[in-house]
Amino acid sequence: MRALVIGGGGREHALCWALSRSASVDAVLCAPGNPGIADIADVRDVDAEDPASVVALARDVDADLVVVGPEAPLVAGVVDALADAGITTFGPTRAAARLEGSKAFAKEVMAAAGVPTARHWHGSDPDAAIRALDDFAPPYVIKADGLAAGKGVRICADRAEAEGAIADALVDRVFGDAGDSLVIEEHLDGPECSLFGLSDGTTVRPLTPAQDFKRALDGDEGLNTGGMGAYSPVPAVDADVVEDLRVRVLQPVIDEMRRRGTPFVGVLYAGLALTSAGPRVIEFNARFGDPETQVVLPRLESDLGQVLTACAEGCLEEVGPLAFSDDACVTVVLASGGYPGPYEVGRPITGLDVAGAMDGTVVFHAGTARRDGQVVTAGGRVLAVSATGPGIALARARAYAAAGAIDFEGVHLRTDIAASPT
Ligand code: AMP
Ligand code: GLY
Repeated sequence: MRALVIGGGGREHALCWALSRSASVDAVLCAPGNPGIADIADVRDVDAEDPASVVALARDVDADLVVVGPEAPLVAGVVDALADAGITTFGPTRAAARLEGSKAFAKEVMAAAGVPTARHWHGSDPDAAIRALDDFAPPYVIKADGLAAGKGVRICADRAEAEGAIADALVDRVFGDAGDSLVIEEHLDGPECSLFGLSDGTTVRPLTPAQDFKRALDGDEGLNTGGMGAYSPVPAVDADVVEDLRVRVLQPVIDEMRRRGTPFVGVLYAGLALTSAGPRVIEFNARFGDPETQVVLPRLESDLGQVLTACAEGCLEEVGPLAFSDDACVTVVLASGGYPGPYEVGRPITGLDVAGAMDGTVVFHAGTARRDGQVVTAGGRVLAVSATGPGIALARARAYAAAGAIDFEGVHLRTDIAASPT
């Protein structure tokens, strides 16, 4: 088959890489792609957030399967348009992607499905929100309902800060429409874990769990980022825990979405807190995580093309459980100096070939571009350097050795990714 991936980041590079290793896939295409993806796929141009352009491209390249990576095209209705055009597509419709797009909607679905999550309040009146703080204890967790580019969550140490966060969103409207209403919720303690379930709308199959590192600096200091590294497996989330999470979290949400007439096809990404009282859902996303995909897919032994097609065609039940290598995988993100704040781009990158040839290593491109025959930086997160090996410690040593072979001016990385696995 011919598989077309929509997107151009590290996650999409990992998807293209895994599809290119699938026996069921003859050709991998990607739009808009990036220079790393161009080494393994036929890269095309597209406005990924314009449904008509994506449909036209899928027809033009004769795609048998379209895989939509990022959330923006999902929210723009790209999957709806592809489905209307009769094109086999892996990804949720706009209605199903609301699980990511509205935190209040996700809470409503979880309540209906009996899924364990933090107790919450939801509303849009500033005075009512301030009164609602009485029902919670510090630290207060205050979230904009809508998509706020990863900046919509505030963890407030005391009441004054919480009242300020409420005013920022509901009075000063710093998140725009995304902050029309707020969710205030109970603070959850414990390590976090990302679990992805692939679904055809009825059946859901978990992938192997991963843990990502969201803060910019070592020791979980600094600002929140898109993710500075990840590892898989997560020792505390063994096969029994994954099965428990399938039964208590993933399947009930899939069932509830189908019951509502908006079946969820695609990746149901559960962000979990492993609390002393058991796992609790922090949030859902409607797509693969980045950079977790860069540690999950290198461990996948099943044919990704076949599994994603089965999801798109509604016959996942016929595909057996997914198989993963016993090897661990660690990815280290190389970011531009200053990220997640302002940073420079256009810096030449050296050492990509040396790093890519090292044992068990794959260098996934995220924010790169080609200029005058050279690969240069073009984003905040530039590369995700992944390595597999027997055990997290060896995979980690390999990932850091490869990351150390790559250089560009201002490069920033965390040195403690997977240093003490959960
Ligand atoms: P979200 O955008 O919902 O993923 O939140 C971003 C980050 O905020 C999460 O990865 C957590 O680290 C933190 N967070 C969100 N909700 C909670 C909560 N209820 N308790 C503790 N931390 C939270
Ligand atoms: N790594 C977090 C995310 O993809 O949202």
